[in-house]
Amino acid sequence: MTIIIYGSKYGTTEQYAQELSKKTGIKAEKYSDIQDINQYGTIIYFGALYAGSVLGMKKTLNKIEDYHNKKIIIATVGLADPNDKGNTDRIREGIKRQLSEDIYNQATIYFLRGGIDYSILNLKHKTMMAFAYRKSKKLKEEERTAEIKAVIETYGKKVDFIDFDKLNPIINEIE
Ligand SMILES: Cc1cc2nc3c(=O)[nH]c(=O)nc-3n(C[C@H](O)[C@H](O)[C@H](O)COP(=O)(O)O)c2cc1C
Repeated sequence: MTIIIYGSKYGTTEQYAQELSKKTGIKAEKYSDIQDINQYGTIIYFGALYAGSVLGMKKTLNKIEDYHNKKIIIATVGLADPNDKGNTDRIREGIKRQLSEDIYNQATIYFLRGGIDYSILNLKHKTMMAFAYRKSKKLKEEERTAEIKAVIETYGKKVDFIDFDKLNPIINEIE
């Protein structure tokens, strides 16, 4: 059995998960609704990035008992540009820290771009972004990573980088 699982706070990650569900016919469920992860042979996990952590991924995937015959696909959704290698290297390192070594080694990882709408952020997230923005602005141009640039360029705005074509490699892998 195959399942699409998503961890999304403001909906951009859920949009990718639902689109993949629509295109493949595979059911998509919120990570908090998953009762028994071990019944699935193929798991496609979509998780939003929050301060380097993939929302819901750790508590969901680390419950896998026998990873040997499973196909595990992880797709992160963040604001920073996934064409930047420094960015994807850091995301990968974060995932490595959040998962057991066996599950990490078994997983194929994809990087997608989401969006942000400051008008709907909760107070905690608004405060975190204000702090990140102030810190980022103090850095010199050459010190700015892709994440830092994304924070500065989108601060206070509503932006949408969702690109469903980026799901095609995932579709090819599961077919
Ligand atoms: C507090 C906060 C921290 C974030 N941290 C990261 C990050 O570390 N890397 C990144 O690429 N994007 C980061 N983002 C951007 C989100 O990953 C992006 O908005 C994503 O599309 C959110 O997914 P969701 O709409 O499914 O919740 C952050 C956003 C907020 C509000």
